[in-house]
Amino acid sequence: MDKIIVNGPCKLKGEVTISGAKNAAVAILPATLLVEGKCHLENVPNISDIRAFIKILESLGSKIEYISEHEMIIDNSNIHTTTAPYDLTSKFRASYYLLGALLGKYGTAQISLPGGCNIGARPIDQHIKAFECLGSHIEVKRGNVYADAKKLKASSIFFDVVTVGATINAILAATLAEGTTTIENCAKEPHVVDVANFLNSVGAKIKGAGTDVIKVTGVERLTQTSSYAVIPDQIEAGTFMVAAAATQGDVLIKNCIPKHMEPITAKLVEAGAIVEEFEDSIHISMTKQPKPINVKTMPYPGFPTDMQPQIAVFLTKAKGSSLIVESIWESRFQYTSELVKMGANISYHDRTAMITGVDELYGSPVKSYDLRAGAAMIIAGLIAHGKTEIYEIQHIERGYENIVSKFKALGADIEYGSIEE
Ligand code: EPU
Repeated sequence: MDKIIVNGPCKLKGEVTISGAKNAAVAILPATLLVEGKCHLENVPNISDIRAFIKILESLGSKIEYISEHEMIIDNSNIHTTTAPYDLTSKFRASYYLLGALLGKYGTAQISLPGGCNIGARPIDQHIKAFECLGSHIEVKRGNVYADAKKLKASSIFFDVVTVGATINAILAATLAEGTTTIENCAKEPHVVDVANFLNSVGAKIKGAGTDVIKVTGVERLTQTSSYAVIPDQIEAGTFMVAAAATQGDVLIKNCIPKHMEPITAKLVEAGAIVEEFEDSIHISMTKQPKPINVKTMPYPGFPTDMQPQIAVFLTKAKGSSLIVESIWESRFQYTSELVKMGANISYHDRTAMITGVDELYGSPVKSYDLRAGAAMIIAGLIAHGKTEIYEIQHIERGYENIVSKFKALGADIEYGSIEE
């Protein structure tokens, strides 16, 4: 399908069940390369980034057996190459986890420089630093990254910036290395903790995940004794929370971890939403226009950059002016031009956007600049008057499972459409 068509406005009402976390699953899949024999995973989201990752694993020699749509057994007993195919790895960012996993297990890895959403420069210097600290030789040449180590040895790694990817990659590479590695200035995102929990469940010795300092004591081998379920997706849950509040709806978000949602919940409550937390669900409703709020994206437990475009849409109808400061990705305001087409009053300079609420947004053809901006365009379509057509939806499909049917079940007038030649 080529585009998503939304006829607004609507008030979302009902229940939605959140899928497994993309950013945990894209790290746990390569982490299975470290494990002897088979790995049984549950709650794996059926999204295009995961399907692409599975193709990469199969090209290395993994055998994947699907038990159901979200449950699979991965057998990595016959890996025959540590070179991942250029065309697949160059398309998405998370392919960098193959470096840590293959290097950790086989002492060598080759991937293309990782691609991903166009939201700013996406350096991998901190990943390289971590691998070099552990005794690996790294070469970046003609669009490829080559990693080699006779034997990885424990070390101390201190990150210059808080980075999710390099924190996870350092853990992957250190899990089978000799000795205890100390990683400092670590990312604390829920998916970092989930990867460590998965590895510990198969015999790794990782302490401190979720804090600034992680210690990894190398073990000789990893084996799985019981299946592992990926955590629910924090950003998918947040996207539905914001959509519910923006449409002044009333929605129960099932299969989420309320603790992970706190930075988002706090901002929505500040703007006037009513949020009730249960053990693994959140009820959100809103009956009035949002109050303006200021938001600064920060590493967890700060407000996630991956929720920035969605909250911006919510604030387009606030009673006054809000400021958003994007402190992670320098090019993450490009999508605001699409909202301006719909009647929003937004201007930005450098890393700060000012949004002054307007009475109405109007449906318009818009494009998805990236995964999260694409989801934000759907929310904009839900609150706008008339027809919004969202193009370049391949970005959205990378990270949201059944997004159209989930919104439809909440009462949205939304469907896929084809682009006429
Ligand atoms: N950075 C460096 N050097 C590095 C690595 C990162 O300077 O070697 C900088 C980046 O430029 C950025 C900051 O550190 O300014 C944080 O980057 P991080 O490494 O945390 O990002 P990432 O691992 O590439 C993951 C998510 C992103 C999410 C960021 C921040 C995955 C696959 N991707 O990216 O998710 O925005 O963390 O939370 O986990 C998304 O899902 O839409 C998405 C873009």
